[in-house]
Amino acid sequence: MGSVLSSSAKIRKKRRSTASSRKRRARFSVSSEKTYVPESKSRSQECEPLPSNLNHTAYSGVDQAISADATASYEEFFTQLSRRNVLGNTHSINNSSTLSASCADEARASVLSFFHASSDEYTVIFTPNASGALKLVGEAYPFTDESRYLLACDSHNSVHGIREFAGRYGAGVHYIPSTPKGGLDVTTAHRLLFRHQPNSPDAAPCLFVMTAQSNISNAKSPLSITQYAGALGYNTVLDAAALAPTSYISLTDYPVDAMAVSFYKMFGFPTGVGALVAKKSFLRKLRRPWFAGGNVDVVQVPGTVVTLSSKLHERFEDGTVNFLSLAAVGDGIRFLSAYMPFLPLRLSTLLHYLASSLSKLRHDKTDTPVVRILSALPSRRLTSVGAQSDVGSILSLLFLAPSGEMLPNSFIAHAASRMCISLRTGCMCNPGGAATLLGIEDAMQELYDGVTLGAFEQAMGRELGVIRVSLGLASNFQEVWNVIRFARVIAQEEGRMSLWAGWFAASGKA
Ligand SMILES: Cc1ncc(COP(=O)(O)O)c(C=O)c1O
Repeated sequence: MGSVLSSSAKIRKKRRSTASSRKRRARFSVSSEKTYVPESKSRSQECEPLPSNLNHTAYSGVDQAISADATASYEEFFTQLSRRNVLGNTHSINNSSTLSASCADEARASVLSFFHASSDEYTVIFTPNASGALKLVGEAYPFTDESRYLLACDSHNSVHGIREFAGRYGAGVHYIPSTPKGGLDVTTAHRLLFRHQPNSPDAAPCLFVMTAQSNISNAKSPLSITQYAGALGYNTVLDAAALAPTSYISLTDYPVDAMAVSFYKMFGFPTGVGALVAKKSFLRKLRRPWFAGGNVDVVQVPGTVVTLSSKLHERFEDGTVNFLSLAAVGDGIRFLSAYMPFLPLRLSTLLHYLASSLSKLRHDKTDTPVVRILSALPSRRLTSVGAQSDVGSILSLLFLAPSGEMLPNSFIAHAASRMCISLRTGCMCNPGGAATLLGIEDAMQELYDGVTLGAFEQAMGRELGVIRVSLGLASNFQEVWNVIRFARVIAQEEGRMSLWAGWFAASGKA
C-alpha cells in the first residue's frame, strides 16, 4: 500500500510538471467538437493557397472552448503513467485497483472542491459525458402521472431527451419559451414554475432542469432561478456543460440537486469523461432501472435479491469507469483553476474584437454586411480580473451573400477548411435554441413523425443551422484573427467566387 501511494504521489508530481510543460509548449488545435488535430499533423495536411495572398499553414479550430493538444497529452500522459504504474479496474483490492481507486477518489475530491460542494452533502458520479449524467437522472427519476418536468426550449437534446422518461410515466412536460435572443425570461420562468409547482410536500415529484448557458444562443440563465424552483418543491438539475468551462459555479451558493458537466469541454483532456455532481439525498430518491458490474454488493442468481453497493456513487457508475482517464481529471481541474480568474476578461476581449470586426465587415462590391450575428452579445465589455460576463463566449452567426441572402453553411465550412479553419455548423444539438435564432419556431411546430432534416430544409428552402465560434481556455488572438481574415476573403468577390467554384465542384454540383 505504501509503495502504491508513493508511486501515485510521484505520478501526481510528474503530471504537474507535465501540465506546466504543456502550458509552455506551442498551442494546439481542435478541428471539431470530437476530433482533435495536433498541429504537427495538421501542418502536413493540404490547405490550398487562397486566391488572396493568404497562405495558412497551421490548422485553426475555433469550436467548443478548447484548443488543446489532446493527442500529445494522451501520449505524454500514458507514457508517464505506464512507465511508472499499472492501473487496474477499480472493482478489486489488488495494488493496481487500489491505485486506480485512489486516482478516482482524488478526481472526485478535486471536482467537489472546484464546484464548492461539500463532500458531506454531494458526491461525484463519473459518466462518459454530460449527456450520460443527464440520462442518469432522467432514467431514474421517480416520475408519476402527476409529476411535471419543466425545461427551457433553449436546451441541449440531452435535456429534451428526459421528456421521453417523463412521458413514459404520463408526467406533464412543460416548456419555458425562449426570448428572441435565446435563453429564458426570468419572470416567465418564475410564472411557469409557480403554475406547475408540486401541490404539496407529499405530491408527486416534479423536476426542473435548467440550462445554465446555451450552447447556441450564448444566453446565460440566472442560477437564482434554481433557488426559486427549489423553494417551490422542485428537484433542480443544472446542465452546466457549456457554463462550467468559463465561469465559476458554486454549489454552496446555488445548491442544486444535481449538475452535469463534461471534462473535455472544460480543459480539453480527457475526452469521454463527464460527471453528475449530485446531492446524496437526491440520489437516494432515484430508482435505477437496472444494475450492472460495480453497482452491487450481492446479487442472488437465479433469484431477485440484489444488495446495492454501500458507496452511493458506485450505484450509479455502471461497469468499469474510465479509470486511466480519471487520473487526468485532477490535473485538468488544477489547470483550469489557475486560469479561471483571468478567463472571463480574456474571453470578453477576444469576443468583443471578433464580434465588432465581423459586424463592421462589408462586401467589396455592394457595401452590404458579410455576417449576421444571431447569438446574444455581452451588454458590456469586461475590464477587470474577476468580473463575470452576462453571456458566454460563443458567437453563432450566418454568412451573407452581397444580396443579403444567407450563404449555405456547408459552403462556409468547406471554404473555411480550405483555409485550414474548422468551423462548426448545424443546430449544435439544440433544436429549440436554433429555431429561435433562425426564426423558424412556427415551422417547427408543423413537423410530423418521421420528418428528416433534409425534408425540413427543403420545406424551408435553405440549410438550417448556424456557424458557431466558441472561445475558451486555450483560445487566443491568432485563432480569432484567422476567422476575421477568412471573413475578409468572403467579403471579396474574387476570393468568394473562387471558393464557391471549389465547393460547387467538390459537392458534385458541377
Ligand atoms: C449545454 C450542453 N448540454 C449538454 C451537452 C452534451 O454534452 P456531452 O457531449 O458531453 O454529452 C452539451 C454539448 O455540447 C452542451 O453544450
